[in-house]
Amino acid sequence: MSTSAKKDKMNSKELGLVLGQQILGVNDLHYGLWEHDIPLSFANVAEAQQRYTDRIIDALPSANGGGTGGGTKVIDIGCGTGHILGQLLDRGFVADGLVPAPKLAEQVRKRLAERSSKPARLFEATFEQFPVDEYREGYDAALFSESYQYIPMAASFPILAKIIKPGGVIVICDFFKTEHAGDGQPGDKSFGGGHKMSTFYEELEKHPFSLVQDEDITHLVSPNIKLLDEALMLKIVPAGKTLNRFLTENYPRTWGIIKAIFKLFLGKKIEKQKYKYFTGNRTQAVFERYKTYRLLVLKRDS
Ligand SMILES: C[S@@+](CC[C@H](N)C(=O)[O-])C[C@H]1O[C@@H](n2cnc3c(N)ncnc32)[C@H](O)[C@@H]1O
Repeated sequence: MSTSAKKDKMNSKELGLVLGQQILGVNDLHYGLWEHDIPLSFANVAEAQQRYTDRIIDALPSANGGGTGGGTKVIDIGCGTGHILGQLLDRGFVADGLVPAPKLAEQVRKRLAERSSKPARLFEATFEQFPVDEYREGYDAALFSESYQYIPMAASFPILAKIIKPGGVIVICDFFKTEHAGDGQPGDKSFGGGHKMSTFYEELEKHPFSLVQDEDITHLVSPNIKLLDEALMLKIVPAGKTLNRFLTENYPRTWGIIKAIFKLFLGKKIEKQKYKYFTGNRTQAVFERYKTYRLLVLKRDS
């Protein structure tokens, strides 16, 4: 495989994000904020996502409060499809984006190209590869919207300490593992992702940032899990069983061989996915036990 083909190869995390976006037909790749006046339904996902976006943008300094007189400069790290980045630009921020997934970068580039004013720079790399020396104290703020969990924590802070101006802020809105993670109870391994919350606080102590806001919004985010769990258990699982029955009754030999081949080559992976998705453990209650969704604001010490 050539180097550029390797670079463009989609990995399983990216597959999940792009598929989720295509199936749900949404612009954002976060769970959304299900405030109590929004009825839980797929029709309202975009509204819940917009509430979440508004909340995190409100946590940033005001758009025209930048120290350079040219507007607050923010970098949206792990910017997904660029939907939030576009809104930052619309609201008057000077904004850059960073996204390592080629399929998503393509969408961001398209979105930026459709805009007539305010160019933004798009870094197509992981945050660990950020060109720190070019951007020393280059930003008033950094935003991680459901992207912090993908970035090694120990690598993120030294970069942030260099690129955020003294007095600048970092907004992280994402889920973390609770103290229950690894307890072996049903559902323990049903939701992947997230740094350990306690490790985050320990790591933060080592760097020049102070925690100025720490809001637990788990109960406003977790209804999304209920929505997806119901679709999975009430629609996708029964549909899969019907299809399996049809293939077993009508093409017993061919279907049997296909299943055996899958089992032979992907046995372990299939078992892991079966446990994760099809044992009825991906519930709102399990999510709330093992994950804590936080809106965190950190201030760079002066
Ligand atoms: C769940 S999506 C969130 C996207 C967007 N921020 C939003 O709220 O819609 C996670 C994002 O993190 C990005 N990501 C994954 N690994 C990363 C890394 N090492 N550095 C920076 N971004 C990363 C993915 O490409 C994706 O854009």
